[in-house]
Amino acid sequence: MSFSKQTIKDINLEGKTVLLRADYNVPLNGTGKITDDYRILQSLPTVKYLLSKNVKLIICSHLGRPKGPHDLKYSLRNVADKLRKVLEPHHVAFVNECTGPEVEKAVKNLKTGQILLLENLRFHPEEEENNSEFAKSLASLAEIFVQDGFGVVHRAHASTDAITKFIPSVSGLLLEKEVDTITNVLESPKRPLAAIIGGAKISDKIQLINRFIEIADFVAIGGAMANTFLKASNIDIAHSVYDKGEIGLAKDIMEKARQKSKESSFSFFIPKDAVVSKKINSNSHTRIVDWSSHIVADIESYPKNPDAKDYRIEKDEQILDIGPFSAAFIAGSLQLSKTVIWNGTMGVTEVEGLHGPIGPYARGSEILVDGILGEFGNRPFSLVGGGDTVGYIENRNLVDSFDHVSTGGGASLELMAGRKLPGVEALLDKKEKARI
Ligand code: 3PG
Repeated sequence: MSFSKQTIKDINLEGKTVLLRADYNVPLNGTGKITDDYRILQSLPTVKYLLSKNVKLIICSHLGRPKGPHDLKYSLRNVADKLRKVLEPHHVAFVNECTGPEVEKAVKNLKTGQILLLENLRFHPEEEENNSEFAKSLASLAEIFVQDGFGVVHRAHASTDAITKFIPSVSGLLLEKEVDTITNVLESPKRPLAAIIGGAKISDKIQLINRFIEIADFVAIGGAMANTFLKASNIDIAHSVYDKGEIGLAKDIMEKARQKSKESSFSFFIPKDAVVSKKINSNSHTRIVDWSSHIVADIESYPKNPDAKDYRIEKDEQILDIGPFSAAFIAGSLQLSKTVIWNGTMGVTEVEGLHGPIGPYARGSEILVDGILGEFGNRPFSLVGGGDTVGYIENRNLVDSFDHVSTGGGASLELMAGRKLPGVEALLDKKEKARI
């Protein structure tokens, strides 16, 4: 199915004043410096296309979840600096409000080919309240509204929903690409389709897991949520993080997966071995425990019998990554797949390595990356989403190696789970005349 909404390529933009909604909700460090500019860079094709049509361009976005207008660590001023660098020689102005006389004056002074970035929309509670008056004053700044903030279109806010009632509203190129790619992969994937899901909480991804059990051929679980599945399967996970409240959920999911496996060639994989440690840091001793496969322990102890502790996690140890058997099994399954969807790292990838870029609990994710990127032969089409996953492959400088790396966290989860996105629904349909 192709994208059903009008885009900036469907309308006449020449010389118009355009309001672009981007998602510049980028991660910041303690001093407010942008630590990851992926979302900014991904917005550039739309920005450049609009500038090529000689528009006067106003850009708005939210950043973080500020407590009010004085929560200045969430100011978009640093984003304006970044835009200046990447859009040179275009002039990028910044105004420390998003509506009102100061903004109107700045818009009046804006010339063709220039950009005006407005201050954080969420400095006004009206943004998240989907307030009509606030939306109307935003709309009054421009002649056309372009929605390109894929990461935020799962929210019905003033700048994603209410605004479209006051101004002709179309999609930008990033939003179109995200929705098109994700929808097509989910609706008509090249099979076999593999889904690899990690992350902390099952409840955050329950709809996704359920949908993948329905449509995928292979589903593998990693990350901290795997611990809850292991606990629910009566594996002793000792000191490992898990969610007591989600044991029932894990059992239901495994039952659903078992049913599907009986009816078709579907398989559902939870880890059979793990990297464990007493502490989470680069210096701690790690070891591999394989409670189920016994392959690693047998090899390590050959020709003697493996020690019982090779099968058991000690009381004060915790699981911090999937083990080599599990990683190889998942990567091996990808050799038979034509499409892979990856959401959530397999272990605690944030801990830095002492001997190079790969941390002590990132080996599982690394083997998975190799499997996805064709290191073992087959190279499936790859769709990657989720904040931690994207952050990880960015750190490894691998973003360009995957076929599609989504800018959306919650939005991509909702789209993959088959939900409608309010910020997309509100845009003009392909065949629709402007309603305003
Ligand atoms: C995101 O980062 O997922 C989007 O920018 C939406 O942010 P929110 O979860 O604070 O609404």
